[in-house]
Amino acid sequence: MNAANDRARLFYALWPDEHTRAQLAALQSSVAGRPVPAANLHLTLAFLGAQKRQWLPVLSALLAQLPSTAFTLEIDTYAYFRKHRIAWAGPTSPPAALALLHQSLWQALMPLSLSLKADPGFRPHVTLARDAAPVSTPLTMPVRWKVGEIALVESIAVQGGVRYVPLALRSLGA
Ligand code: 2AM
Repeated sequence: MNAANDRARLFYALWPDEHTRAQLAALQSSVAGRPVPAANLHLTLAFLGAQKRQWLPVLSALLAQLPSTAFTLEIDTYAYFRKHRIAWAGPTSPPAALALLHQSLWQALMPLSLSLKADPGFRPHVTLARDAAPVSTPLTMPVRWKVGEIALVESIAVQGGVRYVPLALRSLGA
C-alpha cells in the first residue's frame, strides 16, 4: 500500500434510505449552485479527516456503542453557510435523540488517539449545493426522515468530484 493510500478520508453520517434520498434530492430544485449528487446526500455527525486505514476496524466497531433509538428528523428549512457558500436543508427543531447521538459519538471518539479537530459545534444539515447562493424560497415540502442508519463513510476523490462509500452501517431501532 503506498503512502497516499494508507489513509482514508472519513466521516460519520446519518445515511438516508432511498426514498428519503429521493425526497432530499427534490429539495435541490430550489437551490442555485453546484448540486451535491443525489447518491452523496447525507447528514454529517463527525468529520474525521484523513486517518490511517488501520483504524477502520475500531471505527466500525464504535458504531455498536452508540444509542440505538430510531428517531424522525423533520427537514423543514433551507439555510446557507455564507463563508463556505453552502446551501443546505435541515431541521428547525432537531430531536434530543440526534443531540444524544452526536454527543455519544464524540465521547466514543475522544479517547482514541486520533488527531481530530475539535467539533466546531453541531449544526445538523444536509448540504444540497456548493458554490451556492442563499436560497430565496421557503421550503414547502418538508421531508420526514425516519432515521434508520448511521454510517462510517469514506470520501473518495473521483474525476470531477467525490464519491461517498459507506464502509460500515449501524441500524437504529433494531
Ligand atoms: P458538509 O457536512 O457540510 O457537507 C465529507 O466531506 C463530509 O464531511 C461533508 O458532508 C462535509 O461537509 C463534511 N466536512 C468536510 N470537511 C469538513 C471539515 N473540515 N470540518 C467539518 N466537516 C467537514
